[in-house]
Amino acid sequence: MPAPLPVAVLVSGTGTNLQALLDTVHGRDAEIVAVASNRAEAPALARASDRDVPTAVFARDAYEDRAARDRAMAAWLGEHGARLVVLAGYMALLGEEFLAAFPGAVINVHPSLLPAFPGAHAIEDALAYGVKVFGVTVHFVDAGVDTGPVILQRSVELPDAGSAEDVLAALRPLEHEMLPRAVSLFAAGALRADPANPRRTVIAAAVGGAG
Ligand code: GRF
Repeated sequence: MPAPLPVAVLVSGTGTNLQALLDTVHGRDAEIVAVASNRAEAPALARASDRDVPTAVFARDAYEDRAARDRAMAAWLGEHGARLVVLAGYMALLGEEFLAAFPGAVINVHPSLLPAFPGAHAIEDALAYGVKVFGVTVHFVDAGVDTGPVILQRSVELPDAGSAEDVLAALRPLEHEMLPRAVSLFAAGALRADPANPRRTVIAAAVGGAG
């Protein structure tokens, strides 16, 4: 068994995806070594503290600009040895400089079937469009908004979707399965860009499975 991969998690909100990681891969394929938030009031922070994972807040207004905040955050995550950064409901953009500190090693979970409905209001936007199939995407992060290469994607048919809360409730179980799975795949070295199309992430067969 290889040593668990040191993983940092960035959060802004309730942290149910962080909880899923703490309950599944943490202490197994991965070791969550640091949790950072841009919001001091994010309930996710308590979930980390409850498991003795170090936390820190990097609020935008405590720094001169976003780049300065991102630099401080990247340095703190680096000090904790992070080799993968997972965005689990982190509702701020990360600049090129931050991404360069963790090349090819930042992943995000997004509540739509990308490239449909990127951005912070994916579920509301999908509802407004009137779609009947919703879904979740786990993807590598690049400098765009939810534009990086897809790792895992799953759909759910909700032809009579009513409210954003209902859709989110249907998507949550998918997110909570897919994000830990992507972390395990990354930790196993099973994710590769397809040489024929670097937008395509190939999952090594031995650990592939569904997804
Ligand atoms: C999730 O729906 C995720 O897809 C989106 O933000 C939400 C975070 O939820 N990016 P939580 O904080 O993990 O509960």
